Parts: sequence; structure tokens; C-alpha cells
Amino acid sequence: MYLQALGILALSGLSSFASAQSYPNGSSSESDVVAVKWIGDTPTRNSGTTFGLPWPRGKYQANGTAFAGLGGDGDSQIPLQSWVTAYWPDGSIKWSGHAIGGSETVYDEYRIAASTTVSSNSSSASGLTVSDSGEEVSIDTGKLTATFPKSGNVLVSTITTSSGKVVGQNGRLILRSQSGVEEDNGGNTTSINKFKFESSINETTVEFDQDSSIRALVTVRGTHQATSGTHDDWLQFIVRFYLYADSDAIRIVHTLVFDGKADEDFVSAIGVQFDVPLAGEELYNRHIRLAGPDGGLLREAVQGITGLRRDPGSAVRTAQFNGEATPDIATWDTRVSSRMQWIPAWNDYSLTQLSADGFTLKKRTKAGQSWVKIPGGTQAGGLAYLGGATQGGLAVALRDFWKRYPTSLDISNAASDVGQITLWLYSPSAEPMDLRPFHDGLGEDTYDEQLDALEITYEDYEGGYDTPYGVARTNEIYLFPFDSTPSADTLADLTGYANEPPILAAGPEYIQQTKAVGSYWATIPNNSTAAAQTIESHLDFLIRYYQDQVSQRRWYGFWDHGDIMHTYDADRHTWRYDVGGYAWDNSELSPNLFFWNYFLRTGRADVYRFAEAHARHTGEVDVYHAGPFKGFGTRHGVQHFGDSSKQIRVSTPIYRQVFYYLSGGDERVGELLHELMDAEQAFLTVDPRRKVRDDNGTYVIDPTALDLDLGLDWSGLASTWLIEWERRGPRWEEARSKLNTTMHSIANLTNGFVTGLGLYNLHTGVIAPPATDPRNLGSIAVSHLSASFGLPEIISQLDDYLGDDLPAAFLDAWLDYCYYYGAGSAEQAARYGAGFGSLNLRQGHSRLTAYAARKLGNNATLAARAWNEFLRTDGFAPSLPWVSEPLNGSEVLVPVDEASWVATNDAALYGLAGIENLAQVGYALG
Ligand SMILES: *[C@@H]1O[C@H](CO)[C@@H](O)[C@H](O)[C@H]1NC(C)=O
Ligand SMILES: *[C@@H]1O[C@H](CO)[C@@H](O)[C@H](O)[C@H]1NC(C)=O
Ligand SMILES: *[C@@H]1O[C@H](CO)[C@@H](O)[C@H](O)[C@H]1NC(C)=O
Ligand SMILES: *[C@@H]1O[C@H](CO)[C@@H](O)[C@H](O)[C@H]1NC(C)=O
Ligand SMILES: *[C@@H]1O[C@H](CO)[C@@H](O)[C@H](O)[C@H]1NC(C)=O
Ligand SMILES: *[C@@H]1O[C@H](CO)[C@@H](O)[C@H](O)[C@H]1NC(C)=O
Ligand SMILES: *[C@@H]1O[C@H](CO)[C@@H](O)[C@H](O)[C@H]1NC(C)=O
Repeated sequence: MYLQALGILALSGLSSFASAQSYPNGSSSESDVVAVKWIGDTPTRNSGTTFGLPWPRGKYQANGTAFAGLGGDGDSQIPLQSWVTAYWPDGSIKWSGHAIGGSETVYDEYRIAASTTVSSNSSSASGLTVSDSGEEVSIDTGKLTATFPKSGNVLVSTITTSSGKVVGQNGRLILRSQSGVEEDNGGNTTSINKFKFESSINETTVEFDQDSSIRALVTVRGTHQATSGTHDDWLQFIVRFYLYADSDAIRIVHTLVFDGKADEDFVSAIGVQFDVPLAGEELYNRHIRLAGPDGGLLREAVQGITGLRRDPGSAVRTAQFNGEATPDIATWDTRVSSRMQWIPAWNDYSLTQLSADGFTLKKRTKAGQSWVKIPGGTQAGGLAYLGGATQGGLAVALRDFWKRYPTSLDISNAASDVGQITLWLYSPSAEPMDLRPFHDGLGEDTYDEQLDALEITYEDYEGGYDTPYGVARTNEIYLFPFDSTPSADTLADLTGYANEPPILAAGPEYIQQTKAVGSYWATIPNNSTAAAQTIESHLDFLIRYYQDQVSQRRWYGFWDHGDIMHTYDADRHTWRYDVGGYAWDNSELSPNLFFWNYFLRTGRADVYRFAEAHARHTGEVDVYHAGPFKGFGTRHGVQHFGDSSKQIRVSTPIYRQVFYYLSGGDERVGELLHELMDAEQAFLTVDPRRKVRDDNGTYVIDPTALDLDLGLDWSGLASTWLIEWERRGPRWEEARSKLNTTMHSIANLTNGFVTGLGLYNLHTGVIAPPATDPRNLGSIAVSHLSASFGLPEIISQLDDYLGDDLPAAFLDAWLDYCYYYGAGSAEQAARYGAGFGSLNLRQGHSRLTAYAARKLGNNATLAARAWNEFLRTDGFAPSLPWVSEPLNGSEVLVPVDEASWVATNDAALYGLAGIENLAQVGYALG
């Protein structure tokens, strides 16, 4: 990984920082101490974590800065690993990533000290040890050791506790698929081929920092290879293992890219399986734990000695229920101990969550015998433990287990010498995953027909474009090894931990002051006017409404969790989940930016979790990572990948930028950001305007003259280039050059952004005037969508990033666009020779007016215009109810809260414009 090379600054253990407020200290050195706190409540455990911190431009050079971690009231040193995730243009640090190891003590607050006085005493604390034999990598955290082979089908060969007990073995991926589904041929299963697969490793790499050795990352890439049936290798995986010093947990980030054919490859199960050695453990000392809702736990033994006709003694019963070794069997009542052979041993357990509403549980003594039902519940916690009181065991947990249904947790062969825990990310008990289109095309064969259908269902259909080939999904899994069966409370805690892993973040004020992720948002003013407070309460209403709608409308499932819906159907009291272009939102008009900026300004934990799930969904599922559309995302629709509009406006990395930096550089998200450097290649395959051009019969895609929308397309490309540049990714010089060239090109156009379209040269980055205006006399094509996918936000960031190096003519072109969009046709005509026509989304565009007001010397007239556009044009009016109404009875399927006036386009724009206007022209709000 390229960022590893930049870990040169990682010097931990600076000897002392006199006070937490030490600022310029001495003539040539400086230091700052930045506080980071857990979002939400301070967790009860810390198994190691990674977080990110922003820094102001020009302050800390990467090669001359040391970071140290402090915790508690005094100067307790916290071993810290630090690296750079982004740089300002001058090479100074823009964002850093930091890892702390596991610890018994969890402080409410940590302080990260940055100092230009590079101390030589890099007292590397007792950290991780990594050994690489060439064939496998072994990592010892001090609390556990895990070994990762570099080839074969096993990703983790052993997990050993610090006392030397092997509690997990042969960790591997399993997959099942079939060539068809029964319902298609009247239940004739003989015509369906079934396949089984296992992981096949292509590459295992390890990243760690020898000097600080707090965190190691093992990345395993490969595909699934058939072990039964004849099938090509497929379903690429990337599995990342995060291990921290002094940590007793392993965090796994598991990514799959779907590279099958929707009508031939029906996934019937996706699993992660571990063997758990049990030899030498008495059956009555072997324990099964399966998490229910809210810290609940199924607590059983393979051979139960409670509830029997004869009593072995309360000490025995209590020990077994609590997962402790029972007193020696010689001490039991012999009426029990002499009859152990008659008590059945339960070999297999299975918990299955087929919907967000309920899970079922069952167990059996062995294959061939009937399952016995165990009473189930609603939303399972997603953790399973198998192990023994003396031999130890392993717990496996899936984050958001019930939200990602259909899922299962199986325990098998618990009565044999080697048991298994299988975590099913896609349950074998579910119907096979069906990724075929939801309709047959309805005879929409020509563009005319497709455009006509768009008029009624709002779906932009085209045969062949409704493909899942190349979409991805990422899941988070935790492994917890134990020397002996842990207490039920420990496992309940760990279930909570796996579902809401603790996150450290700096406070809103600090982040805002650095200007490292936009200066278009402000922290909530503690002294706001009544008008500002009203907007704040509306923003809060929108955030809570969407959070509630997710649970009430059951926006959950393997592919769906994290997305929201686009438009509401007030007649049916339901979101338009089945109407063409109105269903899944797929980032339309930037709700991602609303949610992340709302987190930045409030620091609210619930908002972070919500935005995180949204980012994980929108970056993976709504975007192609392989195949002809790689780099593009899909427009909103009934299926996340169904619509034929494939554009960079959906995949734009600005939607994942905040998450990436706050997380200290989440490696999967980082990979997604970098991947978009190839997005422009997709313009060679897909012409986004193919259905609306007059020359559709004769138009030929030309890499030196690609039709480029200066808003929808350029904003995505510019975000990609800025992020690649600031990260100093492998192609950062190309990114910088294209960013610079395109900015100069846009400035070069007679009407700047108002031109709307240009002809982009993929090789040079030059954007020439559009085909309709080859002499650059000035054309006008202004669309309400151009600035709705992160354009204002990325330009504002470019301004902060480049400062005086931002081409002045480019900024002028943008400020003109900002000014004239809402200026009215008379002013537009006076400036450009013609008006822009009727434009909507004026509420959302008020943030452009606000930006212009601020940049043009806090222009009070323009600031007032911005608020007028925000409050009195379109979008959400102040006179709306701003509350939801409960609905129940036969009016609806299940009780829900309804605000029928809420549509996501308006919500996203109200949210963003509200935040940006308060920050930029808050003073002018009456
Ligand atoms: C740090 O990097 C800057 C810019 O590359 C360079 O001018 C300076 O000499 C370097 N300082 C050290 C201490 O290496
Ligand atoms: C089931 O499918 C097989 C293979 O296509 C075919 O040979 C057989 O006739 C089918 N059976 C029925 C009852 O349709
Ligand atoms: C396997 O790894 C090699 C480099 O190690 C790479 O060139 C190749 O594309 C990879 N194949 C797959 C299927 O990931
Ligand atoms: C091309 O555009 C014309 C005019 O809009 C239309 O009649 C024709 O159907 C289009 N071609 C295709 C392939 O749809
Ligand atoms: C509110 O603003 C007034 C005037 O600017 C100031 O005197 C007061 O201290 C502020 N209150 C708070 C809580 O910041
Ligand atoms: C940016 O592009 C302009 C126009 O092509 C060029 O004159 C200038 O040298 C470029 N600046 C940098 C820093 O590359
Ligand atoms: C700007 O316009 C001039 C004149 O048409 C052209 O030669 C130049 O390449 C353009 N620069 C960029 C960066 O587009």
C-alpha cells in the first residue's frame, strides 16, 4: 500500500508534554495537543482502535513532526502509531491516522500531541510482533497470536491465546451457488446444478510499523474456487484483518465483488467458517452461546446436566450454566454420574435471521436426527461462541447481523473433537439470492420508448444496463478468542462492542478550524437566533425522521442496509419502493453530504453510525467495481443496480471523504476512493447523454472529445483528483495535472460553468468548448442537477486547498454561476445575452448564493437573497408541519410515522443548504 511508505513520521513516546495547552514552545518548534473523545458513551472495553485527525495548512511537515498520545488527567503515555492520510499542497499534514492498542483502562478522553521537536527517544512500547516466514505471517498481539497463510484456501490457520491454547483453526470462506431457481421450472431441481466453493488465496500482504508496532493489517485477496461441481473461480474477495497491540480481538473487514451472471449464478450461501478444537473437554464442560436481542444470550452446554430427573448438585448446575468447569464428576451425585451415557449430546445449533423481524433457533443431536426447536426472538445480536471451560473457545460476531438478513450462525460437531462455527453472511436457509432484473424490459426497445416510459414510472431503463456485475458488499466481523468460556456478561458486552465498535473523534470546533474537510459548515452556534434555532430543529427532525423510517420501513437486508428511499407515495402511505425511478435513493442529491456534515457539526454518535452505514452501502452497492461500468454508479431505482443511467455523479468520492479521514483511513474506503481514478475510462463505454442527443445515430465516442457535464461529471472527477492528490496516491501527479488543466479550461470557456457541457480530452485533461459552440462564442446550458452532486462542496474545498493558487478566473467563473443561478432572467440576460430558463431546486441552490455572498466580501444583499431563496422559493417551506404523524390500523400494514411531504431530494438539499447557509451567511438570518 502506498500510504505505508509515508509512515516515516511515526515516532511514538515523546518524553513529556508539560501541559495540554502548550502552544508555540520556543523559537523553532511548535506543539499542539488535540483532544479526542469517544463518540457517545465511553466504552467499557478498548480492544484497539484507529481514528483520524485534521491539521491546519502549513503547520506540521510530515518529515518533521512527532505525535504522542496522552490519556487520563495527567500525562499518562498512550502508545500511539501515527501516519499521514492527506497532505496540503505544501506537503504539510492535512489529515493523520492514529492507532492505539488495547488497554484495560479506557479513558474518557485522549490527547494527541503533535510536535515539531522530533525527539530521538522513540521508546517503542511492547507492541505487536510480526513474523513472516515467506509462506505465512504470524502476528502476536500479546493477548493472542494469529497465523495467516499466503496461499491455499485457509485465510487464518490458527488463533492461539496468550497461554498457548489453540482456539480457532482453518478460518476459511465458503460459498454455495446454483445455476437456477426451482420456481422457474415447476420445482424440477434435477435441471439445477449446485456448486460449492472455498476461498482460494491469490495474495496475502501485511502492513505494520516496526517502530511503533501498535497495529498490523493483513489483507488477503482471492476468489472462490469450486470444490463441488464445475464452475469458474468467481466472487472476488478482499478480507482485511486488523490486529492491535494488547488486544484480545481481531477485526475483519470482508468485501465481496459480485462478478457472476445474474441469470446463471444464484448465490445460495456465503459463509466464514472456523474450526474450534474441543478434544479433551468433557461434553458437559463444552458451552454454546448465541446472542439474542439487547444483550440476551442462549446459554447451553453440549451435554446439559440441568433439568434432569436426578440432580448432580447445585454447584454442578450453577457451574455449567455459568460456563465454569464443573466440580470433578467423582463428587457428583452418582445417580447422575453413572448415567451420563443416556443424556444426549447436542452436536449442532443453528440460528437463522431471515428478516429484520425475527430469528429462529434449533438444535439436533446429529445429522439424520430431527431438529428440536428452541424458542427464538426478534433481532439477534449476531454473536456465537463455542468452547470449553478448560480448553477455551472462540466467539465470532457479525456487525449489524439482523440488519443484514438473511444471516445465520451455525455451530456444528460440538460433540466431536473439532467443532465449527459458521457465520453466514447470506444464510443457506434463505431463498437463493436473485439479482435478475425485476421486469423483462416491458418492450422498451428504443430510446424513444425508454424515454416515454421514463415519463410514467420515472425509470430510465435500457436492456443490458440492469446488471449487478461489479457491485460489492463489505461486512465487519469480530473474532474473540478465550482461554476458557467467558462470563455471559462478557459475551453480552462483546455483542454490543461488535455492533457499535467504539470510535474516537476530535470535537467539531477543532475539525472546523483546520478547514481540512470543507469550511462550508460551522459548529452549532451556542448563541443562535430564534430563526437559526428553527432551522436547527428542522435539521434535527429530518435526521431523526430518516433514522426512524429505516427501522419502521425495514430498510434492511444484505444489499439494502444503509440505503434510504427517494420519494413517498402518500396514497398508499408507503415509500415508492416499487415505482421505477423513485425507490432506492442511490445518493441522489447528496444525502451523504448532509449526514456527514451534520455529524461534523454536532459530533452525535447516532448520526455517525447512520452516516457510516449509508457510506458503506452507497460506496459499495450503488457503484461498480469491476466490468464495463467500473467507476460509475447507478441512478436511483427499484434495484440498486437496475437503472440504465450510470454516472460518476453517484460514485463521486466526496460522499466517502469524511468517513475515510475520520476513520484514520479505512483501507476499504481508501481503495474505493482510489479506484475512481479509472472512472473516466467508463466514459469510453457509456455515453451518459446517449438517449438525449440529436446525433444518436452518428455519434462516436472519442477519447479526445468526450461530452463532459461541467457539473454532474466534472464534480465527480474533481473530487477524485483532489482526494488522490491530497492523499498522494500513486497517480497524484496525474490527478493534480488534470485538476489544474480542467479548472483552467472551464475558466477558458466564454460562459464558464454556465456553458454546461464541454469536450474532454482524456489524455490531456483539456476541456474544449462544446460541439454546439466550437468557436467558444458562449453557450448557455444550466441545469438544476449540475450543482447537486457535490459541486459547491468540492470547489469550496479546492479554494481552501489551493488558496492563492486557485486560478482566479476559475473562481470568477464559479462565483458567476453561484450568483446568476438565482439572479432572475433579466440579470442573466444582461450578463449572458439570454436567461437560463426556468430552474428549480432553488432552496438547494441558496447555498451557492451564500457562498458568493461570503466570497464577495460578505455581501449583505446577496446574503439576504440566499435566505430568501432558502425560505421562500421551493423545497421545504417553513410553513410545513415539521412533525410526523403516527399511522396505524388498517390504513397501513404496520404502524408507522408519516411525514408525507418529505422527499429525499428536498431533505438532502434542505439539510445541506441549511448547514452551509448558517455557516456562510448566518449573520444575515433575521
Ligand atoms: C522536509 O521536507 C521538506 C520538503 O520536501 C524539505 O525541504 C526539508 O528539508 C525536509 N526536512 C527534513 C528535516 O528532512
Ligand atoms: C427436469 O429437467 C430435466 C433437465 O432439464 C429434464 O430432463 C426433465 O425432463 C425435467 N423433468 C420434468 C418433470 O419436467
Ligand atoms: C492475483 O495477484 C496478482 C499479483 O499478485 C495480480 O496480478 C492478479 O491480477 C491477481 N488476480 C486476482 C484474480 O485477483
Ligand atoms: C435517435 O434519436 C431519434 C430522434 O430523437 C429517435 O427517433 C431514435 O429512436 C433514436 N435512436 C434510438 C436507437 O433510439
Ligand atoms: C451571546 O451573544 C452575546 C452578544 O454577542 C454575548 O454577550 C453572550 O456572551 C453570548 N452568549 C453565549 C452563551 O455565548
Ligand atoms: C495549470 O494549467 C495551466 C493551463 O494549462 C498552466 O499554464 C499551468 O502551468 C498549470 N499549473 C501547474 C502548477 O501545473
Ligand atoms: C485555453 O484556450 C486557449 C485558446 O483557445 C487554448 O489554446 C488553451 O489550450 C486553453 N487552455 C486550457 C487549459 O483549456
